[in-house]
Amino acid sequence: MAGEAGGLFGKPTPRIDGAAKVTGAARYASDEPVANPAFAYLVTSAIARGRVGAFGLDRAKAVPGVLDILTNANVGGQAKPPPGGDGGPTTTTLETDRIWHDGQIIAVVVADTYEAAREAANKLEVQYMQEPASATFDSPGVDIQPYKPRGPEPGKGDAAAAFAASPVTVEGRYQTPAQHHNPIELFTTTCVWDGPNLTIYEPSQFMWGLKASVAEQLGLDPANVRTVSRHVGGGFGSKGGTTSRTAWIAIAARRLGRPVKLVPTRGQGFTIATYRAETRQRVKLGATRDGKLTSFSHEGWEVTSRPSGYNVAGVETTARMYACPNIGTAVHVVHADRNTPGFMRAPAEMPYMFALESAMDELAHALGMDPVELRRINDTQTDPVSGLPFSSRSLMQCLDQAAARFGWNGRNARPGSMRDGEWLVGYGCAAACYPTNIAPAAARLSVTPDGKATIGLAAHEIGTGASTTVAITVAHSLGLRIEDVTVHLGDSNLPPVTVAGGSNNAATTTHVAVQACEEVRRRVAEAAVKDADSPFHGADPATLKLLAGTLTGPGNSSEPLDKAVSRTGGRLEVHTEYVPAGLPASAMARLYKGQVAFVRGEGRKDVTAYSFGAHFVEVRVHGRTREVRVPRVVSAFAAGTIVNPLTAHSQYMGGVIWGLSSALHEATEIDATSVRYTNGNLADYMVAVSADVPSVEVIMVPEHDDRVNPLGVKGIGEIGIVGMGAAVANAVFHATGKRLRELPIRLENLLS
Ligand code: MOS
Repeated sequence: MAGEAGGLFGKPTPRIDGAAKVTGAARYASDEPVANPAFAYLVTSAIARGRVGAFGLDRAKAVPGVLDILTNANVGGQAKPPPGGDGGPTTTTLETDRIWHDGQIIAVVVADTYEAAREAANKLEVQYMQEPASATFDSPGVDIQPYKPRGPEPGKGDAAAAFAASPVTVEGRYQTPAQHHNPIELFTTTCVWDGPNLTIYEPSQFMWGLKASVAEQLGLDPANVRTVSRHVGGGFGSKGGTTSRTAWIAIAARRLGRPVKLVPTRGQGFTIATYRAETRQRVKLGATRDGKLTSFSHEGWEVTSRPSGYNVAGVETTARMYACPNIGTAVHVVHADRNTPGFMRAPAEMPYMFALESAMDELAHALGMDPVELRRINDTQTDPVSGLPFSSRSLMQCLDQAAARFGWNGRNARPGSMRDGEWLVGYGCAAACYPTNIAPAAARLSVTPDGKATIGLAAHEIGTGASTTVAITVAHSLGLRIEDVTVHLGDSNLPPVTVAGGSNNAATTTHVAVQACEEVRRRVAEAAVKDADSPFHGADPATLKLLAGTLTGPGNSSEPLDKAVSRTGGRLEVHTEYVPAGLPASAMARLYKGQVAFVRGEGRKDVTAYSFGAHFVEVRVHGRTREVRVPRVVSAFAAGTIVNPLTAHSQYMGGVIWGLSSALHEATEIDATSVRYTNGNLADYMVAVSADVPSVEVIMVPEHDDRVNPLGVKGIGEIGIVGMGAAVANAVFHATGKRLRELPIRLENLLS
């Protein structure tokens, strides 16, 4: 691969878009200047199940400035629902009069101003034909179905028989709540038609997926659809799939012959987009007296909507966590009258590792063993399900380094034994993991004789520092300064990159960028060796390197980049397509159709590829009020090559903070009678604030992995949140002796 000069890989590098973001110059989708837009306001269902009988439109139409009102009656046949699939919500649609959930879009009002559209929406009268609705687990009328595993259901041996024969056992039922992402940037859509061409400005984690999906819904040629979202103000999975609202705004703009802009409210975001569904789980662990696992069973129940089978099935991960000869797993999908859930940071691992890592702590306590030592005894370099080696696994390095930094050996193992004045003190730990994904991608790279490079690829800047990672890779590979590299992303007119999900972005975009740089090196080298005036004349082009802005060859021959590039015609542009090992070449054609094709961490034939980590948490539980505080967290992660330690550190820390917020605060509550969210806004949906997070220390454990992919990049966006719930719950148990198996942890559950 391309040269090592520049040395930017692995050096802390400030975001190249940092100044633009803090000065307000960064353009988010709804900031794009659009001439003379009309404004849309969504009307959403006030019932959870039934049908729309009739609309009374007169009072709404009488509001000055109202231009159009879309309902199933006038446009219902004009768009198909978004194609299904893992994250594709199928419930929020105007297609029929059917109401699948509270807050479903049932009409779109368009007016000259936002205020007029909102006023008219509030004056729209809706007659409902209401049916009894089911809210969640235990509600009458839910429909429980087995899930469809992606591959063979993870399992081996006879977990039930081994459990019955195990000298030490623990068994627990765990529960995690519904949660909503609440990205600061709302779920906006602006649609502009120019003849047959449709431009969509919408924050998305998958530009080419959105383009293909909307084209299919509206029966357009995808070549006529462009999606633009140069910056995304947080996604966390909520902007990874397509919902039907985009197509309805496009239809509204087409009917009016005028651009239409939609900025939904914060509250509407709770029902027109996806969320993390609540789970219930049961874990059974059997072990020998010296702590070796003999049996592991993990069963999950997950809520979804009526029409969608969406589930996350985190048993695929938990079954691979520890060495165990007998493993049994099952997942059940509970259909209720709810909007369809979807991806949310570590969708599978966050809830399921809460259960496993809590159960491991319970087992350590039952054995009278240190929880770190229990994990050491059951650590493995081989995937217990597939028998394949892990490409790398530094779980124990993470546990040991974080434990040392935290001061774990100062812990008195007896629950309730540590106090500081009025406060009960507890130390808890848990492991983290996340599968490593990589996907095909394409990119266009140009280099000019003045030593400047521009790379374009439809990757996604969702706040992670994605553009900086690409700039580092190009600067590093071509030997340029980072300020000489321009990165364009967030536009489907650029070559396709897969969804910014599954923590694949860094691995995927660095590999395509390196390949593009290698293509540049090859092209300038081939031109140079043919030039009789060049110092490389007649040399093997493979021996020429592009380092520090200089082409170098055998015998100390060298030439500045500008000269080498000018030989290729003055401006060199390459288009490159990267398909990771393990995928067929047809994966690239699928990407151009907006379809996702990952090489998944546990789907490979040669290795299983995961990142690992560990959290150590100190909690303080007030002796009288049971208020829970978390004064400090120390977490360690090993995720292969770290491209930019500065932004990597922020990603890890953000994940840990969200994990802490999840453990103590976050839950979307559902009223069982009305089947509506009762705290569907950012005022009532609790999240951690700075005062809740006094100290988070992140240790980045060096890890070299030459099997996961050529650059050894594993991805870090999601692992930080995984296991934090268990670490906090385990610390609360240590402080109080009370085991809480339900998130979030609330003081009322600690009072009795
Ligand atoms: Mo992430 S939840 O895979 O966008």
